[in-house]
Amino acid sequence: MTVKEVRGAPAGAGSAAAPLVDLVAGARPNFVKLAPVVRAIRKQGRLAYRVVHTGQHYDAAMSDSFFEQLDLPAPDVHLDVGSGTQAAQTGRILERYEAHLLAGRPAATVVFGDVNSTVACALAAVKLQVPVAHVEAGLRSFDRTMPEEINRLLTDAVADLLLVTEPSGLANLEREGLPSSKVRLVGNVMIDTLRAHLPAARGSGIASRLGLNGSPYGFVTLHRPSNVDRPETLAPLLELLGELARERPLVFAVHPRTRAAARAAGLLELIRPGRPDLICVDPLPYLDALALVAGASAVITDSGGLQEETSVLGVPCLTLRRNTERPITVELGTSRLVGSEPAAIRAAFRQVLAGEWPPGRSIPLWDGAAGERIADALASWLVPAPLPCPAA
Ligand code: UD1
Repeated sequence: MTVKEVRGAPAGAGSAAAPLVDLVAGARPNFVKLAPVVRAIRKQGRLAYRVVHTGQHYDAAMSDSFFEQLDLPAPDVHLDVGSGTQAAQTGRILERYEAHLLAGRPAATVVFGDVNSTVACALAAVKLQVPVAHVEAGLRSFDRTMPEEINRLLTDAVADLLLVTEPSGLANLEREGLPSSKVRLVGNVMIDTLRAHLPAARGSGIASRLGLNGSPYGFVTLHRPSNVDRPETLAPLLELLGELARERPLVFAVHPRTRAAARAAGLLELIRPGRPDLICVDPLPYLDALALVAGASAVITDSGGLQEETSVLGVPCLTLRRNTERPITVELGTSRLVGSEPAAIRAAFRQVLAGEWPPGRSIPLWDGAAGERIADALASWLVPAPLPCPAA
């Protein structure tokens, strides 16, 4: 674990003139949210920052390719925690981030999203009285069987600045008794990354490389424990994907958790590479994934980020969950909750093929400028207002 240098502010990094913030990211969706905040902080010049990578996601496909494609600076600090059970992973992050804080305290810690890295670093910081800002605060699925829901509740309970993506987040935080003085509606920073990279993604050529050559296709991801961890749920889902792919080719980017679960359940045959209809690939770099989503006639997923991205791109999204912490993607966007039952997924897929999917509408503040609003919110929170000039 090393701390290299403090970046971001022209001079006086970490001083009262330019307070130092730790920007903490650990898992794939965090990197997509981190990039616009780093860019906006640099442009604004009122804060210094350190990028802290917990190492929750650690391999080239899940981490390195995101840093490269999103022009993220190499992490200043890497906690190298790797995988483990929920408690082991969370505990390791907590311990290692605390050691990092003890070696040099920032003015604040900024955490993103709902992964184990989010709650662990928020907890380590608050216990050392380092103020915490949470990007993507207030989202609630009301499903406490999801590890992410526990992470959201706990992070928001200890955070000092709650940066919210959509109106449901404001209502949830109010209901939980969090004072409105801590809360700012800033919009969705993931969409900043989408808008900035869409032109480059459109030139990625991934669909042709996968042999699709202009023909319509769907795009699939699955990784939630509720869909993949139990063979009795995973097997029918994988069989169904094979069936749907005979009607329209599907590109399935197989998450490491899903591959491991399929291997353990003896289901690898259902996701073998080399099939022309169900095209199974490893996790994709950001630009390739965005290109495939933008060009798809439908997305089948249990990812939170994809519910948001498809809503902005106007692509029908079959969300394989019974609830969502992002209700605006259903109210205004193109996502519909179809659950995990094959019959319901099949029916929804046919609706897409028949052109009967409801179109979405634009979502307020998902406009590509959330990073700047976040940088402004952080600066007005941390940089003391100038003293009034003494009367001449
Ligand atoms: C985590 C987040 C989830 C997020 C998802 C995005 C939590 C509780 N879950 O789930 O909210 O939507 O990331 O991907 O924080 N693995 C690799 N290579 C890697 C990283 C992980 O092979 O770079 C393997 C691990 O060994 C593990 C599995 O993938 O077996 C799952 O990783 P884990 O960090 O537990 O969480 P995710 O399921 O990815």
